[in-house]
Amino acid sequence: MKKSILLYFGISALLLINDSLCAQTSGWSEVAPGVWKSVIGNPDKTDLFNSAGIKPAIDALSRIASAEFPLPEKNIVAEVINGKTYLRFPLVKDEQIFGFGLNFKTVYQRGKILQLHVDHYGGTDNGRTHAPVPFYVSDMGYGVFINSSRYLTVYAGSGVRKDSPDAPEERDRNTDKQWTSRPYSDAVEILVPATGVEIFVFAGPTALDAVRRYNLYSGGGCLPPRWGLGFTQRVPTLYRAEQVEQEARSFAERGFPLDFIGLEPGWQSRSYPCTFEWDSTRFPDPPSFVKKMKEMGIRLNLWTNPYVSSFSPIYNKILPYTSSHTVWGGVVPDLTIAEAREILSEQLLNNQINIGISGYKIDECDGYDHWLWPDVAKFPSENSAEQIRQTYGLLLQKMTTDLYRQKNTRTYGLVRASNGGGSSFPYVIYNDYYSHEDFITALINSGYSGVLWTPEVRSSKTSEEWLRRMQTVIFSPMAMINAWSSGTKPWSFPDVEKEVREIALLRMQLMPYLYTEFARYHFEGIPPFRGMNLEPGFSIKSKAELKNKNLDENPYAEAVMKEIKDQYMTGEYLLVAPLFSGQTTREVILPEGKWYDFYTGEYAGDGEVIKVTPGLDKIPVYVKDGGIIPMMQPMLHAPASGQKFDLEIRYYGSKQGYYRLYDDDGETFDYEKGIYSWREIKVTPDKKGKLTGTISKAEKGKPDNVGTVTWKFMTE
Ligand code: GAL
Repeated sequence: MKKSILLYFGISALLLINDSLCAQTSGWSEVAPGVWKSVIGNPDKTDLFNSAGIKPAIDALSRIASAEFPLPEKNIVAEVINGKTYLRFPLVKDEQIFGFGLNFKTVYQRGKILQLHVDHYGGTDNGRTHAPVPFYVSDMGYGVFINSSRYLTVYAGSGVRKDSPDAPEERDRNTDKQWTSRPYSDAVEILVPATGVEIFVFAGPTALDAVRRYNLYSGGGCLPPRWGLGFTQRVPTLYRAEQVEQEARSFAERGFPLDFIGLEPGWQSRSYPCTFEWDSTRFPDPPSFVKKMKEMGIRLNLWTNPYVSSFSPIYNKILPYTSSHTVWGGVVPDLTIAEAREILSEQLLNNQINIGISGYKIDECDGYDHWLWPDVAKFPSENSAEQIRQTYGLLLQKMTTDLYRQKNTRTYGLVRASNGGGSSFPYVIYNDYYSHEDFITALINSGYSGVLWTPEVRSSKTSEEWLRRMQTVIFSPMAMINAWSSGTKPWSFPDVEKEVREIALLRMQLMPYLYTEFARYHFEGIPPFRGMNLEPGFSIKSKAELKNKNLDENPYAEAVMKEIKDQYMTGEYLLVAPLFSGQTTREVILPEGKWYDFYTGEYAGDGEVIKVTPGLDKIPVYVKDGGIIPMMQPMLHAPASGQKFDLEIRYYGSKQGYYRLYDDDGETFDYEKGIYSWREIKVTPDKKGKLTGTISKAEKGKPDNVGTVTWKFMTE
């Protein structure tokens, strides 16, 4: 017999039909400003938000304009049938949706069929990816999150119900040219293989506000240490201590910035599976080595995967808390169990963190199926293998972040798996896929899903490709060369060495701006790297206008209607439009409002499509009218806590300019106790257009890293 419960949601009223499962719904309750939750049936104990241990930033949420429940409640439907939960959310004509995690090929998600499943990305946007976050955001200005640690099947506007009020007309393919194999669908439908689930709806009013609310509800975006935004080089697997020291010296001698070096598997005595201890032949004296590197201004990040070798000192202790199946012969800790976390944490602390290791690169916690534990594996906590797979990246990020928090030292590392609720973790996702174009699409998609992504540089066929890749990685959350197998250095292509140095130094110059934009990610939930569709005035407004426009005469309106996956925003003001190998010219869509060339300050356009031929040495970057970009001198290392840096404040355009520069010690968690400051920067034109800039004084008793201030009015 079909057991079902059908729920039409209403904040005050709900209708139950055939409740033979006796499941309950809570209706919708506003759990934070602009955030509503409903509980359907009996949800699993382990979900994404509790695995991530989120602490909603309620104060920050209350600072966003108040909003009504953003969807027609009666059109959200949930049914629990024979142990599975069926969800339906409405879509209207012309609506576009974004998100569903770290996709690489597409930004538009309407019409997609996905099975959200943590995995190493395999080249197809089918839901199997490093962070298959079950969150989507609509250009109508709302977001939806499914708080489940199951493999979810998503029909993002593909199914057509016979009772749909918007059902497409049946057509005869023999004779009707309008017949289509994909008729119109008016809903996102999701199958949750569990007897219940929590669902969340995030209000706008804009799509960006919905994303902000999701990030803030997850605890606010991460704030990396200042050094985390500097340059990082990962060295070949079997490098020894003296080679690593030599690497750091070479960077300094050649004038390349460097803040941290990543050691790959060879720092451990065995890897794949791992021992979590130093290899004594390559690193005979780890404490002195770490100290020496720190004296050179270089921190160290350690690669690891979570699978424990029988040669590891923690093997016997952790064995009772591991799964039935192994990975490469190593045991898989059940990180939902406190004892397993404690045993692993103690090893990381005593052997690495306490001697000054700054962070980790947590590899192989995503897939592939061929080597990861199968779904038939059993874990001692009795969480299913599926649930552990979906949350393992979150659990690892949380465990390590907590260790650094205990020491009141920030970390910034890499991870290959994440999921919903992970916005606050100081980790950047990477992978082995290496398509430059798709890496940029992933960077855009990361901004819709509360994760960070680096288009890392490893190797290149030509110096052109090398430089083009370097130009984009410096406009990303982690400016990194991953030379674990290639052994490349920034200067590996001598004919572009100068240009690579310049772009790496530009990254350092932009640090005050980038650091502030990460602070806004933390305090306001605004992703520092975002797709154009989150830009005000870019899609929603223009879309309505489009109806009255002749497309032939209005390429801008047409352009904004298309999926844009090769240009993006970096922070409040910068629009970045990369070129890829083989390209000498490209089109850039400048949203409505005036835009200026970042390098020259010259006017570039307003609500139009421009064609640019920038030369190999430049990545096209444009600044919004009134844009204020606080920059510092090109230093080789990020300023240490309390170290002054000189500020060059660049201003673009003609509009009154306003920006708040963020400052704190750059290294500890004291900002969580209010020990930070925002300094107001203003640029005002007088009647004749002459510009004056002011910056407010440093707050008394608060961190103050700003030395002398100079102004550069770029648009004269
Ligand atoms: C891969 C990882 C690479 C590198 C390599 C070392 O799984 O994606 O970045 O760390 O392992 O073996």
